[in-house]
Amino acid sequence: MKFKRWSVVVLACAALFCAAAVQAQEKLEIFSWWAGDEGPALEALIAKYAALYPKVQVINATVTGGSGVNAKAVLATRMLGGDPPDAFQVHAGQELIGQWVAANRVEDLTPLFKSEGWTAKFPAGLISLLSAKGGIWSVPVNIHRSNVMWYLPAKLKEWGVTPPKTWTEFLKTCEVLMSKGVEAPLSVGESWTVQHLWESVALGVLGPDNWTALWTGKLKFTDPKAVAVWDTFGKVLAYTNADASGLSWQQATDRLVSGDSAFNIMGDWAAGYMSTTLRLIPGEDFGWAPSPSTSGVFMMLSDSFGLPKGIKNRTAALNWLKLLGSKEGQDIFNPLKGSIAGRVDSDMSKYNAYSQSAAKDWKANRIAGSLVHGAVAPQRFLNDFGTIMSVYQTTNSSKAAASAAQAIADQVRLGLY
Ligand code: GAL
Repeated sequence: MKFKRWSVVVLACAALFCAAAVQAQEKLEIFSWWAGDEGPALEALIAKYAALYPKVQVINATVTGGSGVNAKAVLATRMLGGDPPDAFQVHAGQELIGQWVAANRVEDLTPLFKSEGWTAKFPAGLISLLSAKGGIWSVPVNIHRSNVMWYLPAKLKEWGVTPPKTWTEFLKTCEVLMSKGVEAPLSVGESWTVQHLWESVALGVLGPDNWTALWTGKLKFTDPKAVAVWDTFGKVLAYTNADASGLSWQQATDRLVSGDSAFNIMGDWAAGYMSTTLRLIPGEDFGWAPSPSTSGVFMMLSDSFGLPKGIKNRTAALNWLKLLGSKEGQDIFNPLKGSIAGRVDSDMSKYNAYSQSAAKDWKANRIAGSLVHGAVAPQRFLNDFGTIMSVYQTTNSSKAAASAAQAIADQVRLGLY
């Protein structure tokens, strides 16, 4: 009898132990490229998640490399190899739709948007970038601006120049700077940052309507208007630093901060880096302006998270998506990141002077989508953009680059999505 009672107690303890072990095993793997210097905003959001769901073990799986240059390749291997993370960073627009929705690898999140009331909380234009085939396919955490020119007001004053408003003015200003001993007035880094510069040049030369027409297939890359982009781009490149290919985007920003270069054209994650990591004060230590010839136009991109089909920790992942789409989540993440909330109801008192000005422009400006950050063209086009750049750099011919771009646009059937 005594033996029986003991065995019941032992069995009950074992069951409790197992249940605890199972609970402790609840996990959430979040996949992104927000590593190192880019990490603070994501880490703050994960800390909030951990406080809300203390039993879930969060795995912050990052693959370093700005704009996802390395992460996207690792992600593709995992998604197609049947080992998807529980949630993954993906840009709103063609990067999401042309790759993951087309391949049927992500869940339709329309029910989540409905249950969370999000269709009224995100602007219609943003929701349409996340939508295709009757579904909404990811949750946006922010809006970043691509076409920003950064500078240090104190250095420009010292050099006796002001932020140029057009590309013509920009080239003249660079001449002045060079005569004052600034060897490389414009800082760039590894190849994707040069592509990033290209999209700002293209937006400035073409204007928002023709820029958009390129991606809907209505304007050919070989049209003289689009060929002219390469002419200006070549002139601008002449003022960049020779060591670019070895520099990350943060190191390109560092050249600005150290006064080695006068300008850097980069997305506003650079504001996050300068204010959150380097502790510089926006509007005092660093300044900004729309990249030349793009005043009144906001080239946008949005980081979002998708829910792969067939994941192990679906409930934990849905709770992650709920947090990052919430007002509280967005206002934890974005003030550190340099971006503004995707939501329309965020608390702007939590944001610094740069983000407040970006939020104003986001409401008042014409909106265009970024190429390099996934909004307007599928990843397959972007994968080949490096080839187009090398054609330009080896031939020094705008026409050759334009023909290469058109050939790739035809191959990926741009404009058909
Ligand atoms: C972009 C991304 C930003 C930032 C940037 C630099 O593609 O949308 O959030 O991470 O790359 O890595």
